[in-house]
Amino acid sequence: MLSRSATKYYDPEAVLTDEQITALVEIGTSAPTSFNFQNWRFVAVRSPEAKERLRPIAWNQAISYEAAVTFIIIGQLADASTVPAVFGPMVKAGYMPADQLPEAEKGARGIYDDNPQQQRDEAMRSATFGAAAIIYAARSMGWGSTPMIGFDPAAARKEYNFANNEIPVMLLAVGPMRDGNWPSKPRRPVLDVLSFR
Ligand SMILES: Cc1cc2nc3c(=O)[nH]c(=O)nc-3n(C[C@H](O)[C@H](O)[C@H](O)COP(=O)(O)O)c2cc1C
Repeated sequence: MLSRSATKYYDPEAVLTDEQITALVEIGTSAPTSFNFQNWRFVAVRSPEAKERLRPIAWNQAISYEAAVTFIIIGQLADASTVPAVFGPMVKAGYMPADQLPEAEKGARGIYDDNPQQQRDEAMRSATFGAAAIIYAARSMGWGSTPMIGFDPAAARKEYNFANNEIPVMLLAVGPMRDGNWPSKPRRPVLDVLSFR
């Protein structure tokens, strides 16, 4: 995990199969989310045609079209009214008694109802956790990854048919690398950013 770095140079000939991409996103969706909202969506841009359309949206960053796949990582505003739907499978599986559902929904409403900032923060948090899981899953496969904020959010919204409750969180390029990438960059000393109490 400590060997990860943001990849600049991808092997432009490399291809990941749809099964490999699906496996990465499955790991992404194993990430935690508040109330298990799973308030995210992932678009895998991997065909030459789709990459060509992404290219101007991603400010012509070569990473976006040289990587085997670039994910559009989309967050969905947290919505407490979805609690029964997201908890349903847990009730069905017998983990959670059905009579706890109203209490859970009430808790979620207290946090998110009439609080657009919190709804949006949750979209960012969930999607970022999902992206982070994909980044380390890719690393474990020997592939590079690059989170990217260098893109046009309005153009992405249009191209990838965002619903009103969806926000663009980041692009995430993933794929086999070519030579020339930097190794991990130095970090601030851990004890400068960690305190014990
Ligand atoms: C939210 C976010 C946005 C980023 N956007 C870009 C980008 O648009 N283009 C790019 O080349 N790198 C981008 N990066 C990569 C960072 O520059 C890189 O992660 C940082 O310099 C630390 O380097 P490291 O990841 O190799 O440790 C982004 C990283 C993050 C977390």
